[in-house]
Amino acid sequence: MEERQWWKESVVYEIYPRSFKDSNGDGVGDLGGILEKLDYLEELGVETLWITPVYSSPNADYGYDIRDHYRIAGEYGSMADFELLLDEIHKRGMKLLMDLVVNHTSDEHPWFIEARSSADNPYRDYYIWRPGKEDGSPPNNWLSYLGESVWTYDPHTREYYFHLYSRRQPDLNWDNPKVRREMRNIIRFWLDKGIDGFRIDAVNVISKESDLPDAERSPEEKLQANGEPHYKNGPNIHTYLKELHEVFSQYPIVTAGETSSVTIDDVKRYTSPEQKELDMVLMIEASKIADPEHDMWEEKQWTLTELKSIVKNWQQELHGQGWIGLYLSNHDHPRLVSYLGHEGEYREASAKLLATLLLTLRGTPFIYQGEELGMTNADHLQGIEDFKEQQALAYFRTMVLDKGHDEDQIMQRIRRKSRDNARTPLQWENSREAGFTDGIPWMPVNPNYKEIHAAGQLQDNRSVLNYYKRMIALRRANRALVYGCYTPLLEEHEQLLIYKREYEDEQWLIIMNFSEVEVELELSPELIAYWKNGDRELLIHNYEEERMMTDETIQGGCQLKPYEAMVWR
Ligand code: GLC
Ligand code: CA
Repeated sequence: MEERQWWKESVVYEIYPRSFKDSNGDGVGDLGGILEKLDYLEELGVETLWITPVYSSPNADYGYDIRDHYRIAGEYGSMADFELLLDEIHKRGMKLLMDLVVNHTSDEHPWFIEARSSADNPYRDYYIWRPGKEDGSPPNNWLSYLGESVWTYDPHTREYYFHLYSRRQPDLNWDNPKVRREMRNIIRFWLDKGIDGFRIDAVNVISKESDLPDAERSPEEKLQANGEPHYKNGPNIHTYLKELHEVFSQYPIVTAGETSSVTIDDVKRYTSPEQKELDMVLMIEASKIADPEHDMWEEKQWTLTELKSIVKNWQQELHGQGWIGLYLSNHDHPRLVSYLGHEGEYREASAKLLATLLLTLRGTPFIYQGEELGMTNADHLQGIEDFKEQQALAYFRTMVLDKGHDEDQIMQRIRRKSRDNARTPLQWENSREAGFTDGIPWMPVNPNYKEIHAAGQLQDNRSVLNYYKRMIALRRANRALVYGCYTPLLEEHEQLLIYKREYEDEQWLIIMNFSEVEVELELSPELIAYWKNGDRELLIHNYEEERMMTDETIQGGCQLKPYEAMVWR
């Protein structure tokens, strides 16, 4: 029997504050904006809020480059605003998770400014420095997540510093005990304010092999190579997490790690309670299903059977031995309906189907802001000058400027895949700038706010928003959806995703048509057996009309509509 925990039963809502709500007309979302919208969130039924970084930052990576861990960035508000927000969240019985960025800091962090000032500065070892190779080239051949070298040469001290992300985000040296002590202090500082936990950024890359060897090159990689085997789930990761856990465990909180490329066994090691490391890790695979291995900027055709095998793997193998956070999209991916659903006629149906999937699986669901409205990709961002996030800019630099690839083709990829798709302002109402700001928004509002906005959806019982509300309420009221075991049906079917959740004496059946055409419900013996097994009730359905699924109608063959989704008990 799975141990019950509040954070397993909670639904998390991710806020990207910059684009959530602006309260003072400067065009940038802020803490005051979140405060204004707490009633909306409470009504939606999400209990836990995770806000991405709001610490002082020069915004090379919009907050994921921290300049001062102990300060709120002025553009988001003051520490007093933060404390007020936390208080108001708690008054509503809700919880707050902060983002903890442990792998790197900003190059404007005082530690880095000290570190780069001289090779014998006491902070030098807070970061990773190496001399170049004999010919002056970088110390190794690894590529960063921006597709460039992980090394930047510092002419002042004539050494290179290491960064898995951009050169504005130097990696901390976790092998230095002083760095680990600083991190524990930062963690205590925020936990002492009474927050309810952390989402921990890029946590499984903090421990690198200390000799930083050259990585094997694949034929496409020519000069530079993927160094991941030398730092993903690296040599001391578990020791370092156990050390942090000693602090975490002194508070009644939850920790959710962002970990990419982990196996089920890794997840068990990170999250099984005996290991004393993290409470859960965020399952990333589904949100990358259309990204080819060799270049995440391209888009590959994904199949439902692939999605099914991912889901099955994560649902069945972890039972009782670990816990995951579930998400289908976040601030680092294109918009969910544009990526896994349908942008046209079936936008609403597919958004509801995806909500059904997210909220009927085992694990803690994370909803990303705007997902509850079925917001779409930002097709109004056209040329490279319209984009702000550094990965898109780096891709353009490398592919178009350095390698001379066709600009139109590269821009097409960027328009489909850029993280900026998910970062346009939340669409609150059908008024100027979608009600996000009284000023000029930092990122242009998607013109489709006229059709897609929260105010309208609140009034409409059939809206995506109201569907989310019902689905969240159902999830929170039924432990079977949280803890029940998962059994797939019709595993080979290319259009239908069907599974059972079983808990105590309850049996649930989730039926989804993941395609834009009508599909006949295939009557496998298991399905018929489920059907004949007593009373059943249709609890959620994303099409209006009642579904009469009696033995007779089912035996007469039942057609599922495009993106139809149902939850039966
Ligand atoms: C995580 C964040 C992403 C950020 C990166 C570097 O993946 O979600 O937004 O750019 O870490 O901190
Ligand atoms: Ca503002």
